[in-house]
Amino acid sequence: MSEFSGPDDYQKHFDPKAYLTAFFTMTVNAKENEFLQFVLKHLAQIFNSGQVKGETLIDIGTGPTIHQLLSACEAFENIIASDFTDKNREEFEAWLTNQPGAFDWSPVVKHVCQLEGDRISWTEKEAHLRKAIKQVLKCDVLKSNPMDPVVLPQADCVLSSECLEGACKDLGAYDTALKNISTLLKPGGHMVLVSPLECPYYMVGDIKFSSLFVTEASIRESLSRAGFVIEKLEKAKTSENFWEGASELSNYLVLVARKNA
Ligand SMILES: C[S@@+](CC[C@H](N)C(=O)[O-])C[C@H]1O[C@@H](n2cnc3c(N)ncnc32)[C@H](O)[C@@H]1O
Repeated sequence: MSEFSGPDDYQKHFDPKAYLTAFFTMTVNAKENEFLQFVLKHLAQIFNSGQVKGETLIDIGTGPTIHQLLSACEAFENIIASDFTDKNREEFEAWLTNQPGAFDWSPVVKHVCQLEGDRISWTEKEAHLRKAIKQVLKCDVLKSNPMDPVVLPQADCVLSSECLEGACKDLGAYDTALKNISTLLKPGGHMVLVSPLECPYYMVGDIKFSSLFVTEASIRESLSRAGFVIEKLEKAKTSENFWEGASELSNYLVLVARKNA
């Protein structure tokens, strides 16, 4: 594989099971889950705040994961998931349709229920999310209409977790991709981003995937150029050697930005 992992590399080499096992197996050791817990905590705050809500949320680059949607389904009755690769969409659909062999998300779901004050059981939470997900679409953030050939009505919220850094070769491509996905959002709507910072790569099984080296400042500038105002930004740092070679990720952020009306 070349230095930059492009769409074909994702399609051929991204193994959803290996990704899930490496990054989403929630063990009892809290330290191992630092990054995941940080993301879940802030997404729970964002989507339970009453500030970020509406009818429809589009998740861009969903991958095989559901963690980013567990609180979102409290604020949006319709969720559209999307990803570039067939295997990721199949893995996501395996959970959606409760197929045998689908990844066991129950520890993560239970954790989110706790964060939200145990209002409902984890099985009710899973059912709630499954009901909210209306479509799983092919998407390419590098296209001016990322859902092409499907044309979606503009949504109240666009969420994207750890996708743009993987999909974009340089900061120019990042700017373009951000503008592409923002066409899916209504004026005045919210963009929620989860992003690794200053991270050159991550491992999925034995395969190294490139990650664009973005900083808080570069993301702020890209959002401003794309017509967004940041309303909330939370940043954290993992402990040294946290990933044990699986990634050089050390800083990361979760943010909410509003598209200018
Ligand atoms: C690191 S994974 C993130 C998955 C999930 N959102 C998460 O938070 O764990 C990156 C995802 O971006 C997707 N991706 C890569 N290039 C893409 C592109 N050009 N358009 C849309 N998705 C893309 C990959 O298929 C993969 O699912």
